[in-house]
Amino acid sequence: MLSYQHIYHAGCLADVHKHASLCILLETLTAKDKPLTYLETHAGRGLYDLNSLEAQKTGEAAAGILRIKSENRLPAEHPYTKALAQCEKQQGPNIYPGSAALAAALLRQMDKMHLMELHPQEILALQHNMKNTNAQMYQRDGYEGLLALSPPTPRRGLVFIDPSYEIKTEYQDIPRHIEKLVRKWNVAVIAIWYPLLPANNHKPMLERLQALNLPKSFTHEVTFPPANEGHGMIGSGMFYANIPFGVEENLKTLENILPQRV
Ligand SMILES: C[S@@+](CC[C@H](N)C(=O)[O-])C[C@H]1O[C@@H](n2cnc3c(N)ncnc32)[C@H](O)[C@@H]1O
Repeated sequence: MLSYQHIYHAGCLADVHKHASLCILLETLTAKDKPLTYLETHAGRGLYDLNSLEAQKTGEAAAGILRIKSENRLPAEHPYTKALAQCEKQQGPNIYPGSAALAAALLRQMDKMHLMELHPQEILALQHNMKNTNAQMYQRDGYEGLLALSPPTPRRGLVFIDPSYEIKTEYQDIPRHIEKLVRKWNVAVIAIWYPLLPANNHKPMLERLQALNLPKSFTHEVTFPPANEGHGMIGSGMFYANIPFGVEENLKTLENILPQRV
C-alpha cells in the first residue's frame, strides 16, 4: 500500500535540483531536430498547488522554490526558468510544475511521453493535469512498465526515475532494473534521483550502479539546509548514464543556484 504523496514535498530543494537537472537534459536533447521518447517511471501528479494545506504543512516549498524565486537565484536564460515561466503562464503562479509538466513544456510535438504512476489517486490527478498533452499515462509499476516499453520508438530518449524510496528494497532493486534496461535499450539516457540521508542509504545503490560500467555515467550531488526541524534529508543526488556532451558542465552550475548546507 503506497502512502507517499508528493504534494507534501512539492517545490522542496530536492525538487529544484532534480527538476532543474531534467530541464538541462531536455534542453540539450531537444536541440537536435530528431524526435525522442521521454519515459518516466514515477510521474506523481504533474502539477502541485503550493497554496494547499498539504504543501504548506511541511514548509518545504517555502524553503525551496519560493526562496529560490524570491532571492532571484535562477538565471533568466536557464531552461528551468523558461519552463517554470511557461507553466506559470498556463496554470498561475501558485501551481508548481512537477517533472511531467516540465517535460511536457519542453518536449516538441514530434516527441513521445510515457508516464507511469502506481498510486490510484495520483494517477487520476496526473491524467486530469496532463489531459491537454500527448502523454500516454499508465497506472502500473514504473519499473515493470519501463522494461515492458523498452526499447520505445523513437529509440533516442530519456528515462527519468524519481522514486519515493518507500520500499526498503528499492535501493537494491534499482541497479537490477537498470541492468535489464540497458540490455533492452542501450542508448537510453538515464537519470535517477536519490535522497542524501544521514544513514547514507544511497551508497550501496550507487556502488552497484557504478559497477555496471555504463557509458558516460556521472553523479551530481548537492547538500542543503534542512527545511524544518526534524527534516531528515540533507541533500539530493542524481545518477546519470549516456549523458549528452556538455550536460555535465551545465549541471555543475546548479551548485551556485541552490542554497548550500553550512
Ligand atoms: C517522488 S514522487 C514523484 C514526483 C514526480 N516525479 C515529480 O517530480 O513531480 C514518487 C511517486 O512515485 C509513485 N510510486 C511509488 N512507487 C511506484 C512504483 N513502483 N511505480 C510507479 N509509481 C510509484 C508515488 O505514488 C509517487 O507519486
